[in-house]
Amino acid sequence: PAVPRADPAAVDPLSPEGAAALARSHAGAAQSLAELEQAIRAFEGCALKATASNTVFADGNPEADLMLVGEAPGAEEDRRGLPFVGQSGRLLDRMLKAIGRDRSSVYITNVLPWRPPGNRTPTPVEIAACLPFALRHIALVRPKLVVAVGGVSAKALLDRPEGITRLRGRSATLDLPGLAGPLPVFATFHPAYLLRQPAQKRLAWGDWLRIAEILEKQSSPVP
Ligand code: URA
Repeated sequence: PAVPRADPAAVDPLSPEGAAALARSHAGAAQSLAELEQAIRAFEGCALKATASNTVFADGNPEADLMLVGEAPGAEEDRRGLPFVGQSGRLLDRMLKAIGRDRSSVYITNVLPWRPPGNRTPTPVEIAACLPFALRHIALVRPKLVVAVGGVSAKALLDRPEGITRLRGRSATLDLPGLAGPLPVFATFHPAYLLRQPAQKRLAWGDWLRIAEILEKQSSPVP
């Protein structure tokens, strides 16, 4: 007897499984950043889209060797359609400046392209529906290093249950279809957390020095 096959047209995009499956298929089909952005804008599998004013795709230089992946847009990001342009973004820019970088030498996106109402933490279902796009985004940019900014991003990208206090500062890698080998991922605190817990800035500073060191090592010629 014929094995029953799922009819893609019959997938309910608002069921959790349907949304994640649809996201995987649309993200995987995107062959360029422009196609990926178009696929995200057309995606109806995440309810956050309905309450957001903008789809926040990315900012910075897609040719950069360093890619930052945050959590989700906040109020200012939602208004302007760009990631990390509010208070957290200003602290992030200062940390980047400390290692000699700015938006012309990094590429920035978020796990979620839509703002959760009132900046609440995104639910596991919302994360699962958007993560395939973020992973494809990374695979298309092919940076030398991904920095997961904050716990939501670190847990989602690394598929780990631990919180950021455990995940930060460790070397990890991500295997993505379409990439020649495992991609290094480094997790650090979210700037919004550092604004609430300034005593942790010391550890964060150490993280950014380490990030600069990893990039330096990668760009120096093999002796
Ligand atoms: N926090 C994030 O994680 N991303 C943004 O773009 C802004 C704030």
